[in-house]
Amino acid sequence: MLDGNKVLFSGMQATGNLTLGNYLGALKNWVELSTQYMCFYSVVDMHSITVRQDPAELRKRARRLMAIYIAAGIDPEKACLYYQSHVTGHAELAWILNCFTYMGELNRMTQFKDKSAKHADNINAGLFTYPVLMAADILLYQADVVPVGIDQKQHLELTRDLAIRFNNIYGDVFTVPEAYIPKVGAKIMSLQDPTKKMSKSDENPNASIYLMDDADTVARKCKRAVTDSEGIIAYREEQPGVSNLLDIYSACVGKTPEEAVKEFEGQGYGALKTAVAESVNAILTPLQTRVAEIEKDKDWLDQRIKENAEKATYYSTKTLRKVQKKVGFPVRPR
Ligand code: TRP
Repeated sequence: MLDGNKVLFSGMQATGNLTLGNYLGALKNWVELSTQYMCFYSVVDMHSITVRQDPAELRKRARRLMAIYIAAGIDPEKACLYYQSHVTGHAELAWILNCFTYMGELNRMTQFKDKSAKHADNINAGLFTYPVLMAADILLYQADVVPVGIDQKQHLELTRDLAIRFNNIYGDVFTVPEAYIPKVGAKIMSLQDPTKKMSKSDENPNASIYLMDDADTVARKCKRAVTDSEGIIAYREEQPGVSNLLDIYSACVGKTPEEAVKEFEGQGYGALKTAVAESVNAILTPLQTRVAEIEKDKDWLDQRIKENAEKATYYSTKTLRKVQKKVGFPVRPR
C-alpha cells in the first residue's frame, strides 16, 4: 500500500526486440491492470548489464521500450514509467538485501543456472545476485502484486522470503508481495518450434513476431509458421503449431480459441495463417504509429521520463530511509 492505494510493480528488460508474446502475455495485461492499481512499470536496465551489452544499443532499446509502454496504452501521467537506473534506491536496497540473502538460496535459482550455462565466459556476481536486485525493485515500492511470467515465479518466492525474514527481525517494514501469473491462454509459442516459448532472444528471426515488424513481414512469418500434416484446424495438444496460431488469433481478436476453431471450420491452414496475420497487423500497425509519434515528440517524452523518475524516487526513498534506520545506519542530519 502507498497513500492508501494497492500497489503493483513490474519490469521488463530492454534487451532484444519485444515480441508479440511479450505484448499478448504481459503488456496487454499491464494496460488493463494500470486502471486498477497504483502501478510502477520499470525498464530494468540495471538487470540488463548482467549480460554484456552494447551501450548505444541498450540506450536506444530502453527508450523504445518506454515508448512502447505508452503506445500500448499505459498512461504515463497515472502509472509510473521509469528507468531503474534513474532511481538510486534500487542499488542501495539491493545491497542491504544482499546481506540478508544466503548463497544457498541464490544457488538454487534455475534462471541463474540456465544463464550461467548460456554465458559460461561471463558468470559475474551481478548475474548471481540478479534476484536480489529484483526483490529490491519490488519491495522499495511496497508492492502488493507483481505480474510476472511463470519463469520469474522462483524470484518472487525469494522476494517474499526476504521480506518476511526482514520483517521478522525488524518489525513490519515491507509489504509481502503476491505473484500475479496471467492465465495460460496468453502464452505464445515460437512459430518455428511451437513447443518452445516465443522469445526475443531466439536466433531464428522467423520464430518470433516482433512488435516493430511491418505488415508484410508479419504475413510472411505467419505463412511460414510450422503446422502439421493433420490438415484439420483443431485446438489440441497433438497440434501445437495450429493451436498456437489459434491462440494468437483469439488473443488478438478477443475470442476464445474454441470460438476461433468454429470460425475456421472446414478451412485450410492457409486461410488460418492469413487471418492470423491480419489480426496481428490490426494490433501492430496502430501500435507502431503511436510509437513513432511518441518518439518524435522528444521533449514530451523527456518530460514524462523526468517526472516519473522523481515520483519513483519519492516513494522509494520513503522505504529506503526506513530500512536504513532499521539496520542501524546513522540518521542523516537535516
Ligand atoms: N527479471 C524480470 C524478467 O526478466 C524483469 C524484472 C526485473 C522484474 N525486476 C522485476 C519483473 C520486478 C517483475 C518485478 O522478466
